[in-house]
Parts: sequence; structure tokens; C-alpha cells
Amino acid sequence: MNVKQEVLNIFETNKGTCISGAQLAAQLGVSRNAVWKAVKSLQEEGYRITAVTNKGYTLSSDNDILSPQSISKYLTDDAGPFNIEVYKTISSTNSVLKSLASDGAAEGKVIISGEQTQGRGRLNRSFYSPMGTGIYMSILLRPKMTAADSLFITTSAAVAVAEAIEAIAEKDAKIKWVNDIYCGDKKVSGILTEASLDLEGGGLEYAVLGIGINVLQPCGGFPEELKDIATSVFNDTNCPADLKSKLVAAILNRFWNYYKCIENKAFLKAYIQRSMIVGNEIYIFGNNTCEQAFATKIDDQCRLWVRMQDGTEKALSSGEVSIRKG
Ligand code: BTN
Repeated sequence: MNVKQEVLNIFETNKGTCISGAQLAAQLGVSRNAVWKAVKSLQEEGYRITAVTNKGYTLSSDNDILSPQSISKYLTDDAGPFNIEVYKTISSTNSVLKSLASDGAAEGKVIISGEQTQGRGRLNRSFYSPMGTGIYMSILLRPKMTAADSLFITTSAAVAVAEAIEAIAEKDAKIKWVNDIYCGDKKVSGILTEASLDLEGGGLEYAVLGIGINVLQPCGGFPEELKDIATSVFNDTNCPADLKSKLVAAILNRFWNYYKCIENKAFLKAYIQRSMIVGNEIYIFGNNTCEQAFATKIDDQCRLWVRMQDGTEKALSSGEVSIRKG
């Protein structure tokens, strides 16, 4: 860690408290001038730090810039081996992390961005990722599992996200099989897991778990094509202090707990209970097809069982379903 990162670390754990330059310098074993330069550079990055002569520096408690430091203070001791990097803007956190994974990055690398210019969703769709109002995050995993079992990465992450939203934002969160999180009747979050196969070993070389959450209302609202189907966790354009950092940490804490013994499927009961699909008439979308069916259950493989209109039953392990026709 360089001086700037260490100064930020101290500010984040003492948010709203005035710390003198001398104290920072002594704690870090650097000159007061080095501290001042670090503070100046943080201010230039947008951190609201006030400096009072003969007193010291205070990081405003309503500062909500995501950083490894702002997130790490909410991670539990048994959280995974996370190595977090935060960008202001990026093409797609999944795309960048996939490339780092191919270059040998270790499990636990996390990339988060304030904006994505080419955010991607499932089925080759784009994922709307405007600046400052969402969480766009990817986690690198190197699990020992078959490609078929990689569905459990997505489903356990869906539970982690729903639980984190409820814990931090106090909003009910439901899961629309297989990878969407809803608050009310609109989507607030989507998950895209992309894997590279280890053809010789027969398992996965790596998986990149991408999570996108609409935390706040985008300035000017959601675009026309999304406004009837998407919403944000908060109906506001301002973020309560540390909310995004708390949400990211809550997701990482919960996800890692499920992931570290994923074969036990500790998330499964919650995944099934949170389903907003089971017990409903649904539409199953295929290539230019749309079939009506009744969703009967989710089984222990996280497959969705449906009863078709001719009375036959079948299990779906991927695909697109909706309660709405359009
Ligand atoms: C979906 O709704 O179909 C999945 C959306 C996944 C979006 C996240 S945002 C972080 C990561 N990077 C991407 O480009 N996509 C995922």
C-alpha cells in the first residue's frame, strides 16, 4: 500500500473524525508533507476531506466513494481472499476480469466500477450501467466443480445479493429464476456468470461472477425501454453514507460463506423460498418462441420445473422466463 492508500484506510475507519497531520505522519512513519500530498490527491479524486489549520483532516461521513478501503472495513474476518480494485469507469468488469483470469490472476480478485461503458447481461444483452448510481462488480473464482454445477455460483450469488439488499436497505428482495433480483415487480439486479472450461481436467479453469445492482435512480430516470421493468434499491438520487460500501461487503461476506462449501448447497432453501416464479403462470421464451406454462417447483439442482399447457412436465436448467408476456 502506498501513502495515499494508507491515509485513506485511516480516514475510512475514522470517518467524520478529525485526525491531525502529525498523528497521520507518525502512524505511517512518513513526513507531514507526504501526508498533505496524499490528502490533496484524494481531494482531487473527489473525496470530501476538510482541512482545518492546527487541527487536522476530516473525511466527511457522507462521503460515498467506493474504494477497497471503504469496503474492507465492513468485511468479516472470515471473508474470502478478496483483492479489490475499484475503477471510475471501465468497459465491463466481467470482460476485464476475464482477461486478468486468463493471465493467471488469483481467486478472490474483485473488480468494481462506478460506470460501465459496455456492461453486459445474459443472452448477449447489454446491462445499463450509468455513472455513480449502481454497483458493477465481478469476482474471480477458481472452483473445483463441473460446468453443470457452475449454475450454483449464480444461484448462491442471487441469494447473497437478495439477503444483502434486505439487510442493508431493508427492502424485500425476491429472485426471478435464474439470475435476477426484484424489489416489488421490477428488477434491481442481474447476475452474469461466465466460465472458461479446463478441457483436459473436465472442470472449470475459472469463473467470473458479475453482479450489477441499480442502487439509486439514474439522473433523469431509467431510459424509456427500461422504465417499466427496472427500478433501483433506493428511490432516490442520493446515497446514504457508506451504503454502497456496506452493500458490496454484505454481498461478498454472504457469497463467500455459501461458496466456500458450495457442495453443501446451504443457499438452496433460501433460493427456493425467495422465488417469485414458483406457483405462477409464466412465459418461457426460446428462439422466436413464447410458451405459456405453470411453474411448479425449483429442485435441488436449481432447475425450474414447469407444467406445459398440454399437461407434460419438464425441468429447465437455463433460459428466459417471465411472469409477463412481453
Ligand atoms: C443480466 O441482467 O442479464 C445480468 C447482468 C449482469 C451485469 C453485471 S454488472 C458487472 C458485470 N459486468 C458486466 O458486464 N456484466 C456484469
